[in-house]
Amino acid sequence: MSSKKLFIETYGCQMNLSDSEVVVSILEKEGYTITKQAKDADLIFVNTCSIRENAEKKVRNRIQEFKHLKKKNPNIKVGILGCMAERLKESLLDEEDFIDMVVGPDAYRDLPNLINQTGDGRQMANTVLSLEETYAEIVPVRLDKNGISAFISIMRGCDNYCSYCVVPYTRGHERSRDPESILSEAKDLLAKGYKEITLLGQNVNSYNWKSGDEILNFAKLLKQVANISPELRLRFSTSHPKDISDELIETIANTDNICNSIHLPVQSGSSAVLKRMKRSYDREWYMNRIEKIKTLIPNCGISTDIITGFCGETDIEHEDTITLMREVGYDYAFMFKYSERPDTFAANRMADDVEEDIKAERLNQIISMQQETSLASNKRDIGKVFRVLVDNVSKRSDKQMSGRSDENKVMVFDRKDTQLGDYVMVKCNTCTVGTLLGEIV
Ligand code: 5AD
Ligand code: SF4
Repeated sequence: MSSKKLFIETYGCQMNLSDSEVVVSILEKEGYTITKQAKDADLIFVNTCSIRENAEKKVRNRIQEFKHLKKKNPNIKVGILGCMAERLKESLLDEEDFIDMVVGPDAYRDLPNLINQTGDGRQMANTVLSLEETYAEIVPVRLDKNGISAFISIMRGCDNYCSYCVVPYTRGHERSRDPESILSEAKDLLAKGYKEITLLGQNVNSYNWKSGDEILNFAKLLKQVANISPELRLRFSTSHPKDISDELIETIANTDNICNSIHLPVQSGSSAVLKRMKRSYDREWYMNRIEKIKTLIPNCGISTDIITGFCGETDIEHEDTITLMREVGYDYAFMFKYSERPDTFAANRMADDVEEDIKAERLNQIISMQQETSLASNKRDIGKVFRVLVDNVSKRSDKQMSGRSDENKVMVFDRKDTQLGDYVMVKCNTCTVGTLLGEIV
């Protein structure tokens, strides 16, 4: 008998990608194999994101194609997974009536059962959130292509309730995963030849595992994973500024194979806006953390997320974001227009009152400002030598390869006899806004 075929498409964050790997692992045990062609599939899963309205619109458009496939072949089952499933629950089954199942991020163990119960128009939903589920013992099926970098999800959920954010509602309460299972997953990856691991969580640095009287915090967990082997390089994402402790910064500074790179979403440079966002820190606190990082890890790569045009944001408050960006000098930033999400604190209590054209103008302004800063940061790297993990053959020419430096900058260089997965020393000769170009030395 030929195996059943699963097509899975993932939207949104790395966490979602990591969840898709858990889903595939669960379904492989049910006899499914992956297909890269939706038209060949018996089962189509879309793992969705709700963070901004646009993310949901993209999914709504895309699933219309699956609706057509299902018209041609009514035996295909279509499931919506992830954050949109959790946010919209059964109503999604009414709105998109060709969908067979809607499954939230904590209900993936129930997938085999849900698949069995659907068909011939029977629709199923499981959007129960959990206080415990971490999928700890499920070994994810790696969907990455290069076999060099992998993600390990170490905690789930979020208890911060930032006023703009849908995540606490779609992913539930914070919970940490058993460190033993994290360490054994990391060792397994090393044994399979992986060289880089990114520890993942919505608030990775809030990791907290209690065992008897002992507490294992994120800094200690990171150190334990790093101690597995000097050949493994470690990253982590995403951090909340409230939990970037001195201990964590010192651990990064003192441990060679923990990358000198921190993604620290600031969201706004204005203390008043941060208060409205319920971020629980102000500009001074954030800048104090940045100074600590710069003092202890002088060349640390620093990146951020910024939301522009949040409720009531004035010109002066916007200006505060620009001055903060200038002061920090980020190497990279993800920048977004505020998008109101139904049922969040901001949606219920605050007016989304910054006009669309002002949001767009402010976004353009911070994007061009960031491009200048990124270019300036890259120019400072000319002449320096970086240790790079080779993870890609260049898109432009197979004579060139690329990889990332410890600081998370992309470097492109002539291949020579380099193999994927090698560590090489690369000297930067020139640069663009997004890339350092150099040669192996
Ligand atoms: N509108 C715009 N951007 C948002 N983000 C989270 N919620 C919203 C929203 N409602 C951004 C934040 C977060 C990143 C993952 O997405 O910057 O750090
Ligand atoms: Fe999107 Fe947030 Fe859900 Fe990730 S956790 S998929 S970013 S809404």
